Amino acid sequence: MDRIVILTGAGISAESGLGTFRDAGGIWSEHRIEDVATPEGFARDPARAHRFYNARRAMAARARPNAAHVALARLQAAHRGEVVIVTQNVDALHEAAGSRRVIHMHGELARALCAACGHRWQAPAEMSGQDACPRCRARACRPDVVWFGEIPYRMDEIMGHLAAARLFAAIGTSGQVWPAAGFAETAARAGAHCVEINPEPSAVAGDFHEALRGRASEVVPGWVAGLLGEAQLP
Ligand code: APR
Repeated sequence: MDRIVILTGAGISAESGLGTFRDAGGIWSEHRIEDVATPEGFARDPARAHRFYNARRAMAARARPNAAHVALARLQAAHRGEVVIVTQNVDALHEAAGSRRVIHMHGELARALCAACGHRWQAPAEMSGQDACPRCRARACRPDVVWFGEIPYRMDEIMGHLAAARLFAAIGTSGQVWPAAGFAETAARAGAHCVEINPEPSAVAGDFHEALRGRASEVVPGWVAGLLGEAQLP
C-alpha cells in the first residue's frame, strides 16, 4: 500500500497566526523552556505554566486552518493509499481543515491531563492548578502537552508508519527536536522518498532527497495537486 507520512511543525501554522518557536521573535524568545515546558518548571510554578498554555489555547481557538492544512486534508480524502499526519503541533488546525488521521505526538492544547490518575478530558478554555480532576478529584491537572524530558505519544505507531512509507514529507519544522528530527532518516532507510517543505533548510535538511523552498500555504497546495495527478496550471 503506498503510504504517505507527513510530519508537520509550527511552520505550517505560522500563516494561521500561531507563532513558531525558533524563528526570530518566536515563542522561545519570550518564554523560557525550563519555566513553562518542563515537568520541573511546572512543579516550581504551575500558575505560570497554566498562564502560558491558557494564552496559547486562546490563540489557537481563534486561528483558522490555512491553505496548507486544507490541502493535506484533501490529500487524505483523495489519495488511494493511506496518508498519515504526524504533527508536533498542539493546535487543532489539521482537524479543523477536515483531516482525520492526525497523530499529536506532542499532545494537544485542547486536552487536560490529571497528573495524579492519568485521566484525560477536554480542557476548559482557562485551566488552573485549582481545577479538580473529574475522575479522582485531585487538584493536579496539567495541559496534555508533552514537555521536554517526557516521552512523545504513540511513537511505536509512528515508527511503524515510517517503516512502511513510500513518501515522507516534513512541513514547517526546524529539525531541532528529537525524535521527530530523526524521522526522515528512518523513512529514507526504509526506502521512502523524503521531501522537506520549508522556506529555510532545517537542521536535518541533508536527510531529505528533495526540498521545496517556500511557505507552506504557497507550496503545499501545488505539491498535493501533483501527488493527485492533477494538471499543474502554468
Ligand atoms: N511555512 C513553512 N515553514 C515555515 C513557515 C511557513 N510559513 N514559517 C516558518 N517556517 C519554518 C521555519 O523555517 C522553521 O524551520 O518552520 C520551522 C519552525 O521551527 P520551530 O519553531 O523550531 O518549530 P518546530 O520545528 O515545530 O518545533 C518542534 O519544539 O519547542 C518544541 O514542542 C515544541 O513541537 C515543538 C518542537
